[in-house]
Amino acid sequence: MELGALRKSYRGDTEAFEERHLVSLDPIEQFRAWFQEALECPGIGEVNAMCLATCTRDGRPSARMVLLKGFGQDGFRFFTNYESRKGRELDSNPFASLVFYWEPLCRQVRIEGSVKRLPEEESERYFHSRPRGSQIGALASRQSSVIPDREYLRQKNAELEERYRDTTVPRPHYWGAYIVEPEVLEFWQGQTNRLHDRIVFRRLRDREEPLGAMTHRGHGDWVYERFSP
Ligand SMILES: Cc1cc2nc3c(=O)[nH]c(=O)nc-3n(C[C@H](O)[C@H](O)[C@H](O)COP(=O)(O)O)c2cc1C
Repeated sequence: MELGALRKSYRGDTEAFEERHLVSLDPIEQFRAWFQEALECPGIGEVNAMCLATCTRDGRPSARMVLLKGFGQDGFRFFTNYESRKGRELDSNPFASLVFYWEPLCRQVRIEGSVKRLPEEESERYFHSRPRGSQIGALASRQSSVIPDREYLRQKNAELEERYRDTTVPRPHYWGAYIVEPEVLEFWQGQTNRLHDRIVFRRLRDREEPLGAMTHRGHGDWVYERFSP
């Protein structure tokens, strides 16, 4: 299928970007503001769905959707199977990139950083807060392994439902939380005529480092720059 003519024309307000869209010089607070607006936007089905890209040690990337389950100054949290493909890639190369696209708002956010596992207690707490069916599902699925058919999964699920009928479902050791500690956050606002806004925050390694004319101080150790779209 040829898709050359398929394009959306964004209706924007480039002049008003700083006043209307950039509300904080702290990128985490900026993310919070955009996330809140996305939550309130009726056309967005799953605000916390994000694309997570990981990479093998020798540089082969892979990407998939996961759900953001919390964020703050310490980073962006998601839950998964540590033995999955992404888990194995993160074990050997603990860096990741996250992308959100909130189409009705013409907004994209990109986040890059190093990744760590969160303490077991946090995974434990979240695991038991999930609906029982999801807890059983996590136990039934050795994510990213090859299985014979759907019936295999259904049967395993039924066995586990039976086994844990009257007891707490134990969290499998291979299921838990990761946190992406951001080093770069980019806020992209689609505008008219392809003159999109891109504001990129990065952490300044050396706070004494002199800044160039186009680099601005943000909150704390963050600086930001405007990128050409
Ligand atoms: C909208 C959406 C949200 C998802 N959320 C998660 C999630 O939070 N955690 C997870 O492990 N997989 C989630 N998945 C499934 C993943 O995309 C993926 O199939 C799975 O994690 C295995 O990926 P891997 O083999 O690359 O490790 C989600 C899929 C979709 C479409």
